[in-house]
Amino acid sequence: MYKYLRIKHSPKLKGSVKISGAKNSVLPVIAASILNKNDFYLDNVPEVADVKTLLKLLKNLGSEFEFEKNFLKINTENINNTTAVYEIVKTMRASILVLGPLLARFHDCKVSLPGGCAIGARPVDLHLKALSLMGADIKIQNGYIHAKGNLKGSDIIFDKITVTGTENILMAASLAKGKTRIINAAKEPEIIQLCGILKNAGVNIEGIGSDEITIYGSDGELLEFKKETIIPDRIEAGTYLAAGAITNSKITVKDVIPEHLEGILVKFKEMGFSFEINKNKITLIPAKEIKPVNIITSEYPGFPTDMQAQIMAIATQANGVSIIEERLFENRFMHAQELNRLGADISINGKIANVKGPAKLFGADIMATDLRASSALILAGLVAKGETNIHRIYHLFRGYENLTEKFKALGANMEILKEERP
Ligand code: UD1
Repeated sequence: MYKYLRIKHSPKLKGSVKISGAKNSVLPVIAASILNKNDFYLDNVPEVADVKTLLKLLKNLGSEFEFEKNFLKINTENINNTTAVYEIVKTMRASILVLGPLLARFHDCKVSLPGGCAIGARPVDLHLKALSLMGADIKIQNGYIHAKGNLKGSDIIFDKITVTGTENILMAASLAKGKTRIINAAKEPEIIQLCGILKNAGVNIEGIGSDEITIYGSDGELLEFKKETIIPDRIEAGTYLAAGAITNSKITVKDVIPEHLEGILVKFKEMGFSFEINKNKITLIPAKEIKPVNIITSEYPGFPTDMQAQIMAIATQANGVSIIEERLFENRFMHAQELNRLGADISINGKIANVKGPAKLFGADIMATDLRASSALILAGLVAKGETNIHRIYHLFRGYENLTEKFKALGANMEILKEERP
């Protein structure tokens, strides 16, 4: 049964919200468990749909797991199938993360091509090119990537910075023979966590957190993972701070690593908000006046593309014209037309969005198109007069744990209802 989210005008929020483990960190870490020899214990695992999808995929390959109360125990010892099937991969592009570890451990695997997605073509050519350089023989057959061969360390220079591409090669290189250098590597906190976990499992890795990472592979010997804890989700934290910002309310996000949000906070500050930052807490202090902002999305530590939709929602309430440039993905402005349905004044020209504020927003029926776009619609729904109904909210559950409970605890008026089909 399909569901939708109804939000009633909630112009002021208050209180605090506890941030969950990072979706983009837990996915590669679970995929990395393919390289592990024993039980792997992982804490602070968010109970979101993407995690369940990846666990389903690993179970389909022959792994066993127990997942309860954000705690995961997973054992991949008995994997007896190395085909990641289309039916599961099509629901989550990040399934491509099993390619590197499956190939490194079993020397022969098939992973369905992820296919198109709402935010553009999102190819995986860089992952494949890098694995070929490490000695893999890769063929695309019947919609599947068929990779074979024993991996050898190599120098990989990524033409573009790719997060999951870097992760795939980090995992593959950990079990390969010899030394791999990844040049132009991604530097996201999620990459640093994966490197840290591989290092704790005995892999010698140099240059963690830099754009050049060197990995000394184990030559096929499986790793011994320690118990680990997933880092907080900086995008979830940024989204709740954005809820505070759009309603110009004082709210706090707890259990965060403030340093991971620097690129986001700097832009909120330009908009007139200020922050009280403690060890693992950030409190947003309302602005005297919400000012327009110029944003260019970029790789970490720049302003993340995963916060672009949310800042656009805030910009609808700023006094003046904001300019938002999306440099990472084509077609990642689909939330703009839905925001316009609520009364926003956003015009798109290629990679650039002009957002004229302040706009008076009024509730309407709108459609979620991808994970982060959906959260921007919730933000707008908070300040829109009347009722906003967001359809296709399954996108939201891919990455936000206990979303409605958390928003309600901050004072938002929202509920999930069943879609009535005509
Ligand atoms: C990851 C994140 C996603 C985030 C994105 C950018 C996960 C599970 N997902 O996605 O939330 O929005 O980083 O921060 O961590 N590219 C190629 N060829 C490739 C790979 C990428 O051309 O083989 C291009 C992409 O089209 C895009 C750019 O490189 O333009 C960056 O994409 P990438 O960092 O790979 O994004 P993901 O890892 O898919």
